[in-house]
Amino acid sequence: MSPIEAYNELLNISRRLTVFSSFGALLGWDQRTYMPKYAGKYRAMQFAVLREYTYEVLTSDKFGEMLEIAEKGEFGLRERMNIYWWKRAHERLRKIPKELAIEEARVSSESENVWVEAKKTGDFELIKPYIKRIVEIKREIADALGYEGERYNALLDSYEPDLKAEEVERVFSHLKEETLKLLDRVLSSGKASKENLLRGNFPKDKQAEFCKYLLRSIGYDFGRGRLDETIHPFATRITPNDVRITTKYEEEFISPSIFGTLHEMGHGLYDMNLPEDMWGEPVGRAVSLSVHESQSRFWENIIGRSEAFWRRFYPDLQRHFEHFANIDLEDFLFAINEVKPSTIRIEADELTYNLHIILRFEIERDVINGKFDVEELPELWNEKFKNLFGFYPKNHSEGVLQDVHWYGGSFGYFPTYTLGNIISAQIFARMKEELPVYELVERGEFEPIILWLKHKIHSKGSLYKTKELIKEVTGEEIKSEYLVDYLRGKVERFYG
Ligand code: CO
Repeated sequence: MSPIEAYNELLNISRRLTVFSSFGALLGWDQRTYMPKYAGKYRAMQFAVLREYTYEVLTSDKFGEMLEIAEKGEFGLRERMNIYWWKRAHERLRKIPKELAIEEARVSSESENVWVEAKKTGDFELIKPYIKRIVEIKREIADALGYEGERYNALLDSYEPDLKAEEVERVFSHLKEETLKLLDRVLSSGKASKENLLRGNFPKDKQAEFCKYLLRSIGYDFGRGRLDETIHPFATRITPNDVRITTKYEEEFISPSIFGTLHEMGHGLYDMNLPEDMWGEPVGRAVSLSVHESQSRFWENIIGRSEAFWRRFYPDLQRHFEHFANIDLEDFLFAINEVKPSTIRIEADELTYNLHIILRFEIERDVINGKFDVEELPELWNEKFKNLFGFYPKNHSEGVLQDVHWYGGSFGYFPTYTLGNIISAQIFARMKEELPVYELVERGEFEPIILWLKHKIHSKGSLYKTKELIKEVTGEEIKSEYLVDYLRGKVERFYG
């Protein structure tokens, strides 16, 4: 078999696997939107078969042998990167002993269920044996995968290939320092909250209408996508022409649906504008969670909370909801940009959001590296939280039990949220050099912005890894200076 023949065979397999995973994506979308309550048991079987099939193919000796042959070929970037991603998947899966992978899946899913109860009652003791076992398993997995530097790197690498904890620490520590300074300015300004302006009575279907109107105005293609309702919003790409987003409607609070929709639309536009001709190849996929999150944050925050955006759409919002008829644009803008430290990450404003992530990153890194024991988690959380925010969480539900991630086995995931914020601001700074972004937004001309993102980021798929892509687009390493500048601008605009 020649390298080209091996490559082509790998390509065939890859295309088939992609079609299989699109079945999974469709089933997953259904499960989180309209699936009947009691269908769950059999849905889990459906997923298990899909997963098993993929696992068998990717870890097979045959797959490995073809990789070895293909690697000897002289190929261009696209082929080389496909081989790189195939090999990475093959090796990572093979390094983890099958029993360990099965145990991880079992413990994580049990633990997630127990977590629901533990969070309700604030009882860490209830979940402690599970999280203890999960941390042990994660350390074993990290050791099986291998790493440079610290053990945590092996887990971080699962979500953000090639990124090291030290690099994350470097960009985060500057952000942390500057955020705390800005937070001081906000807290000493003495400005009263206006968040109540966003609360009232907003019927679900009227919210859905308005969200769809925003999506259409921006250019989300309903011929290739949908907007549906769910509890925990997400976006999913089933095929290149089937990208679905979801949002949630709170009838007393307008923010979650609007900003949730814009967030998921950002994910959706990325998915819609990935290179269609590369569907079925690793390079045709989004590069990483951080870059994905940069796209959602760009639309949710940088565009969606901007003055320009609401100069364009506030009159529409006022027409649509009587509630806003007598509320000034300026007051509305303040309300959607308000900085208000709280214990809850997902309700956090743009400024304090990153503190929530930095806290989680520091803790999970230390725990995985063995600097602390699982027993100490609640204490550690409370002290770190007090340090950053100046007050203690009321209970463990608002503290260490707040997010499902760790209890579902996700360690190394959290940093990608703030990296997304950092990258979004860095990309925005570059975009502004080439496009009058906010002028376009105020005129309702979104196409040049979408095309810019498509050209520079979306259409690149996974031809480059995150760090290379950001370097390529912005000419610089990933750095938090642009996010800090952007946040400082916001604080000055609204808090003087
Ligand atoms: Co997101």
